[in-house]
Amino acid sequence: KKELATYKIGFSQCVGSDLWRKTMLEEVKIELSLHPGTKFIYTDAQNSSSRQIAQVKKMLKQGIDILIISPNEAQPLTEIVEEVYNKGIPVIIIDRKTASTLYTAYVGADNYQLGKMAGEYLGSTLKGKTSVLEVMGLPGSSPAIERDRGFRDGLKQFPDVRIATKVYGDWLKPNTRRQLARIKNELPKIDAVFAHNDVMASGVSESFKALHQPLKARIVGVDALPGQGGGLQMIANKVIDASVLYPTGGKEAIATAFKILNNEPFARENILKSLVIDSANVQLMNLQWDKVQNQQKDIERQQTLIAEQQNIYNNQQIVLDVIVIA
Ligand code: FRU
Repeated sequence: KKELATYKIGFSQCVGSDLWRKTMLEEVKIELSLHPGTKFIYTDAQNSSSRQIAQVKKMLKQGIDILIISPNEAQPLTEIVEEVYNKGIPVIIIDRKTASTLYTAYVGADNYQLGKMAGEYLGSTLKGKTSVLEVMGLPGSSPAIERDRGFRDGLKQFPDVRIATKVYGDWLKPNTRRQLARIKNELPKIDAVFAHNDVMASGVSESFKALHQPLKARIVGVDALPGQGGGLQMIANKVIDASVLYPTGGKEAIATAFKILNNEPFARENILKSLVIDSANVQLMNLQWDKVQNQQKDIERQQTLIAEQQNIYNNQQIVLDVIVIA
């Protein structure tokens, strides 16, 4: 255990610009503030697997004590992550996975279960014979593969609900809009949509509107983020109907990293809980988020007060020292 922590944590993010990953980074920073002195090396691969590989290689050269990584695509990132692990550097996989079991710990929700929850939710809210459009994430990224498999399993008990069309929106709104423009003739017969994240779900909503199609289709997304532009707001504003909560795990990843670094017991699989949010419980979720935010502000105020007290104490020490010397 290093005394004055000088641990170097490498954090390789597959993309950093969306609200979900910004929220993750905020959580990471709050947890890191409990470990002053830690060196934090953060990289953003901007949706490119080859860039992410290069960034991890560079981190290895810089020297890191632990790697936290969200791999853009499973297969392409497997080799480099195995290399890091085999060097004896602990690896925490967060949210997206590699194709390998060589990692120290995983932090994230169960994406298969998430997809299944979306399927069961849609199945139980739709009546009669219905056609569903599935908008999937980036092919080859593990949550897209697992959410798709879970969704199909979730719908199995509803034989009247059929997945009529599937497209890849790659987690992104413009790509979703492009794909929907391509299949615009099929959209009028769609009764419900499952998009693998809320960003794509809002793209779906925009595409339907652009086609002047009365928005009869139910739209379900994933993430359910609080705040401006988040899924909770989209549900409250009826842009989408529901979203499956996908916790970012930023706090848990840092907490797990320190357990590993300090040789304390830790869980290898840290599966975060989820639930479906729709108009019935969205206000409750918003209230909870407000409360958490207020508590965070209280903590920050307390920290400022402690720092001020520390300052006063230090000044008194100086006065005392001066007296003693004199
Ligand atoms: C953010 C995101 C989320 C999604 C997750 C899957 O970059 O696209 O919206 O839930 O990644 O890895």
